Amino acid sequence: MELDKAISNRKTIRKFKNQNVPNEYLYEIIQSAMLAPSAKNRQPWRFYILDDKQKEDITNMMYQWGEEYKDIHTSIKGSANQMKTANKAIMVFTPNYHSKNKKIHYKKPDYLSLGAAIEHMNLKCFDLGLGCTWICDTLYVADEINEYLKLDDLEQVSTLIIGYPEEIPGRRERFPMDKLLLNNIPKDKNNQ
Ligand SMILES: Cc1cc2nc3c(=O)[nH]c(=O)nc-3n(C[C@H](O)[C@H](O)[C@H](O)COP(=O)(O)O)c2cc1C
Repeated sequence: MELDKAISNRKTIRKFKNQNVPNEYLYEIIQSAMLAPSAKNRQPWRFYILDDKQKEDITNMMYQWGEEYKDIHTSIKGSANQMKTANKAIMVFTPNYHSKNKKIHYKKPDYLSLGAAIEHMNLKCFDLGLGCTWICDTLYVADEINEYLKLDDLEQVSTLIIGYPEEIPGRRERFPMDKLLLNNIPKDKNNQ
């Protein structure tokens, strides 16, 4: 029941209150990611909690990129605005062993595992009364971020920005199931 509530009511939060999120919560959020399933239990996730200065500097890198490539349609400035107002940000990385070891067959399962972990973080934020946005627009400046944070051999996959919600938006529309379900099965419960 509680899971149902979290799945149904979780939404991407884009406006945050100017209120501190306790660090203790960040550990709980990361802990929830660590419990996600992963292909061959490889746990291909690594986390970096940005401090205020790092968050601001990275936001500025995003603005700069947005300015430089403004003819390319991108949401990077919008994401940067959100990141600026979010109280905390956790960046998710994966070990960049693919290129070295040529274990290409692990690549897709690892990304799927990372998605599962980040969704756990999303749901945990909701459970803690927090709001978050799962951001991939930080990937536009992934190389710059790696250099700035002095992280070698790690590939950035996403950033979760976190804060107390200022505004809870309506549900973003979903495609109807008949567009998504590729076959038809009877709906009744006793359809042995
Ligand atoms: C992989 C992934 C990347 C995303 N990247 C961004 C992003 O860079 N900026 C942003 O504002 N939202 C981003 N989002 C949030 C989506 O826009 C949002 O989940 C979607 O519109 C559905 O809305 P909902 O989460 O409220 O149901 C991302 C979501 C996912 C799953």
